[in-house]
Amino acid sequence: MQDKIKSLEDALQKLSPETIKDIEAFKRQYIGKQSLIQEIFNSFKNLDSDTKRLVGSKVNALKQRAQELYDAALEANQPTAEMPWRDASLPGRHMNSGSLHPLTLVEQELMEIFDFIGFTLAKGPEIEDDWHNFTALNFAANHPARDMQDTFFVDSGDEWVLRTHTSGVQVRTMLRSKPPIRVIAPGRVYRCDSDATHSPVFHQLEGLVVDKRVSFKDLKETLYYFTEAFFGKGFEVRFRPSYFPFTEPSAEMDIGKKNAQGGIDWMEILGCGMVDPAVLENCDIDPNEYQGYAFGIGIDRLAMLKFGIPDIRLLYENDSRFLRQFS
Ligand code: DAH
Repeated sequence: MQDKIKSLEDALQKLSPETIKDIEAFKRQYIGKQSLIQEIFNSFKNLDSDTKRLVGSKVNALKQRAQELYDAALEANQPTAEMPWRDASLPGRHMNSGSLHPLTLVEQELMEIFDFIGFTLAKGPEIEDDWHNFTALNFAANHPARDMQDTFFVDSGDEWVLRTHTSGVQVRTMLRSKPPIRVIAPGRVYRCDSDATHSPVFHQLEGLVVDKRVSFKDLKETLYYFTEAFFGKGFEVRFRPSYFPFTEPSAEMDIGKKNAQGGIDWMEILGCGMVDPAVLENCDIDPNEYQGYAFGIGIDRLAMLKFGIPDIRLLYENDSRFLRQFS
């Protein structure tokens, strides 16, 4: 018996968790009911109590060592195809990883494009007062131009609105800083409107440049640059005369792509113009010294065009099957 114990001690001494390749065999040999250690325990009944006490502690130590080796070997051996007691073919635990929303992707891309040509970031509140959203931008009280923007009023009075456009940030920026000004202001805007191409919440990116000797050709050049950077080559661009109270002259810019019939499909993507002198004056900037241009880009439109999204409402339903496609 002493020999058996000695040889077991030697054997277990040589083993380490890493060297135990076949854990099941190890278990059979040293731990299970038929194991060598159990065999020694079984033969105890034939021993007198003195010998039992003598070898008992040694065998117990062996048993403990075997168990520790077994536990550590289980821990150390990663599941592999060679270890059938851990079925490596079972599917792993699935973790959903998030992805950026298509509107965020487009907004980030726009910020990069304009950053490259020297625009910095400006911000304004989404709950805006009537003066910044309308009056300072040359929308006279009760002027029909206000109807172009179906407004959510925040309380029963007319004082506070959910901003209908990012153009109010123009006013805040001009009041805050002196020219030269060269900013973009992306953000959420709100209008009481809902169908396949209109959502009550949507996104715009406002641009404003105020400096000496700024002209319409600077505006066009900036927008050409942006269009090519964002859409690549192969798109047509056209300006149509338009009306906004805060710009004079005003234009809308369409982007066009050739269709199968050889014609061009146009889509409006932004409004723009030269900042109206009255707006500069409202913001304490001398229109005799400075000129400005401004533009407001519809971010949702761009995302729809870029990714071929047919209905703006898809952008706001948060269906992960839809959102997953843009990561
Ligand atoms: N704020 C206008 C709108 O939401 C868009 C716009 C037009 C912005 C002309 C501008 C601009 O900065 O110059 O309809």
